[in-house]
Amino acid sequence: MGSHLERYPGVLVSFEGLERVGKSTQIGFLAEWLKARNVETVVFREPGHTDLGEVLRRTLLHDVEIKSPRAELLLFAAARAELVATRVVPDLQRGVVVILDRFIDSSVAYQGYGSGVALDVVDAINDIATNGIRPDITFWLEGESFVRASMPDQIELRDDAYFSRVREGYRDMAAREPSRWQVIEANQAPLVVQHTIREIMQPWIRRLQGG
Ligand code: TMP
Repeated sequence: MGSHLERYPGVLVSFEGLERVGKSTQIGFLAEWLKARNVETVVFREPGHTDLGEVLRRTLLHDVEIKSPRAELLLFAAARAELVATRVVPDLQRGVVVILDRFIDSSVAYQGYGSGVALDVVDAINDIATNGIRPDITFWLEGESFVRASMPDQIELRDDAYFSRVREGYRDMAAREPSRWQVIEANQAPLVVQHTIREIMQPWIRRLQGG
């Protein structure tokens, strides 16, 4: 089970999908449920959680119009590198569940499929940013955004064709690596979605608890 277990005792779980499909709601439910079972859990949202990550989040989403998709890729990657080095790796080494609201696959979907950066370039940059760390499980909440953003950021202002390509990217990644990807229909009642997520998490929890 998992790609990094030889190196770290923790479990790395990522959530992917379009904006406002319910990722943070599901992550909140999952984290609460894990904590109630005495499974130490941390949640990070990308980009963010480090001083550099917060600055880059504002830069990328609000402050600056970035014209080069490669520049955008590198800035997301810089935020990722800082988060992985300072938070994710130490927590995985401590044996906790690390839940990431977006990770490497967002760069493949948005900067790769969406903006047209060659996929081998995105993969190479992701590897540099993470030192090769990959999620054990990736939940893709598949579906359209439920609500329109009231104050869209720079990425949300992109056109429908862009988000169709992003979705196609997720579909391709999920098909290529079915052992890691869990595709969940986002357009269901939140508790139904959560039930599926918990079922998938069960064997991982048993392993963490030495069962
Ligand atoms: P969100 O976390 O509020 O969804 O905002 C993050 C936005 O940044 C979202 O539109 C997806 C985008 N994004 C990328 O384009 N590439 C990335 O690597 C990451 C982590 C996010």
